[in-house]
Amino acid sequence: MNPVFMERWSPRAFSDQPVDPEDLAAVFEAARWTPSWMNNQPWYIVYATEDPDRQAILDTFMEFNREWASAAPVAGLVVAKTDLEGRMASTRDYDVGAAMMALTIQATMLGLSIHQLGGIELDAAHELLGLDPEVGSVLTGFVLGHRGDPGQLSDKQQAKEHPGDRKPVSEFAVEGTTLPF
Ligand SMILES: Cc1cc2nc3c(=O)[nH]c(=O)nc-3n(C[C@H](O)[C@H](O)[C@H](O)COP(=O)(O)O)c2cc1C
Repeated sequence: MNPVFMERWSPRAFSDQPVDPEDLAAVFEAARWTPSWMNNQPWYIVYATEDPDRQAILDTFMEFNREWASAAPVAGLVVAKTDLEGRMASTRDYDVGAAMMALTIQATMLGLSIHQLGGIELDAAHELLGLDPEVGSVLTGFVLGHRGDPGQLSDKQQAKEHPGDRKPVSEFAVEGTTLPF
């Protein structure tokens, strides 16, 4: 396995060092090449590096996320197109998640970190983007940047500032046709 998969984890301590515009372009380019149902590419990534847009995006995050995420130089919202039908609709979120993983791995390869956030105020995010839920839906938020000093975090957050654990492959990769549940 390529070490990039172990190098990636979701930090809370970000430095205020800006992200090089070329690196930012590269992470979106990586998302661009994600496979999707019928090549529908149903993802939209709204991001900001400058206030007031950056702050407006951060303001849609729930407080428990905003308190540490505000240090990051790039904040974003991930939107899925909703005016889709049939299997294209049911695979939409799958495709958007795949695009975010491509973006995340490219960011990691460039020495950047990303922390994705489900803890956002969805109504506030839709309002900020002027988004009709029948046309597009905000799925998640994220922050992107360089890792910072864990000392800038609260004690509670510092305790979480390490790579996570995972269940073993044998619990989810099944050879044959019998699921383990
Ligand atoms: C869809 C999604 C939503 C998430 N929501 C949050 C969140 O609101 N707050 C947070 O601190 N982390 C959030 N995370 C990060 C996960 O908690 C994290 O990826 C998981 O614990 C595994 O840790 P690792 O990314 O460091 O390996 C989210 C991740 C994903 C993919």
